[in-house]
Amino acid sequence: MKALILVGGFGTRLRPLTLSVPKPLVDFANKPMILHQIEALKEVGVTEVVLAINYQPEVMLNFLKDFEAKLGIKIICSQETEPLGTAGPLALARDKLIDGSGEPFFVLNSDVISEYPFDELIKFHKSHGGEATIMVTKVDEPSKYGVVVMEEETGKVDRFVEKPKIFVGNKINAGIYLLNPSVLDRIELRPTSIEKEVFPQIAADQKLYAMVLPGFWMDVGQPRDYITGLRLYLNSLRKKSPSKLAGGSHIVGNVLVHESAVIGEGCLIGPDVAIGPGCVVESGVRLSRCTVMRGARVKKHSCISSSIIGWHSTVGQWARVENMTILGEDVHVCDEIYSNGGVVLPHKEIKSSILKPEIVM
Ligand code: GDD
Ligand code: MG
Repeated sequence: MKALILVGGFGTRLRPLTLSVPKPLVDFANKPMILHQIEALKEVGVTEVVLAINYQPEVMLNFLKDFEAKLGIKIICSQETEPLGTAGPLALARDKLIDGSGEPFFVLNSDVISEYPFDELIKFHKSHGGEATIMVTKVDEPSKYGVVVMEEETGKVDRFVEKPKIFVGNKINAGIYLLNPSVLDRIELRPTSIEKEVFPQIAADQKLYAMVLPGFWMDVGQPRDYITGLRLYLNSLRKKSPSKLAGGSHIVGNVLVHESAVIGEGCLIGPDVAIGPGCVVESGVRLSRCTVMRGARVKKHSCISSSIIGWHSTVGQWARVENMTILGEDVHVCDEIYSNGGVVLPHKEIKSSILKPEIVM
């Protein structure tokens, strides 16, 4: 089977991390977001992944080349010369997706994290005889998503409304689809939206089906949701493969520590923390609800909560970093500094405290 991952968009809501790498390469739970997806696709027998890309294809391909071999999966790029939205890229990649087998293919938004129940999706898709299946999930705040109104029993979609202004329902598009090749006949090669133009049309023809996604789901394309997503992901890991989580008297709740990270004496870590490859956490540090990315150093007695520490950054001794502070790549927070929601661009040195949420350029 084949899959296409929509990896365009500039990821502005996840700056400053996306100033260093495209959004799909931002680490989530110690590995780039897109790898979680590619690994799960591989598990259900996908042999070829098409990345629908509209900028920096070299960065993405260079990075993924290693994984192509490691995972034994073919990764190819389909590059737009202008952003084609969420449907246009499918028309552009038409020849790469169709192989004459008539088999359906997966389409994924690149920023969604879940247990990727692709097996269940395939089974359901084959059972209903429609043209397309989308996975849906329930959320409290449906207005920032695509909302789906469906028949409970059959899953047939009556309506698909992207980012509705008035309440339509609370089941939303999870950004995970299985489409028959015939769907490509409905898409023109121009900037166009699958949510606004294609799904409503298939629904009107009574050929769009939805399946409620089992397990957790989160679009981790913005900091607050990223931190919530990590909590949900670690919670699911606790149920599925608890041995991957850290244990010990210095650990509270669900914590993921890369095997190459070093943790000092007398720390208290957790809940909901990910510490990436090569990180050094010195003694007496307190970490909760945060991500510390590859190569970062957290110095003695500092305290980090509800924040993201970008690649190769340093947090000084006795520093306090909290409330959605996001440090870009290679940021240095000096000793004893307080950051309350600072969003710091790459390569900066922070010498005075950030007392209220602000962007530091
Ligand atoms: N190749 C390409 N070209 N990809 C694009 C383009 C483009 O012009 N524009 C957006 N994308 C990609 C993004 O990288 C992302 O993976 C996906 O398309 C969806 O774009 P977002 O910008 O993340 O959309 P959203 O989060 O506001 O809404 C979408 O996702 C929700 C679930 O998270 C919609 O699909 C909603 O219906 C859905 O509920
Ligand atoms: Mg998104």
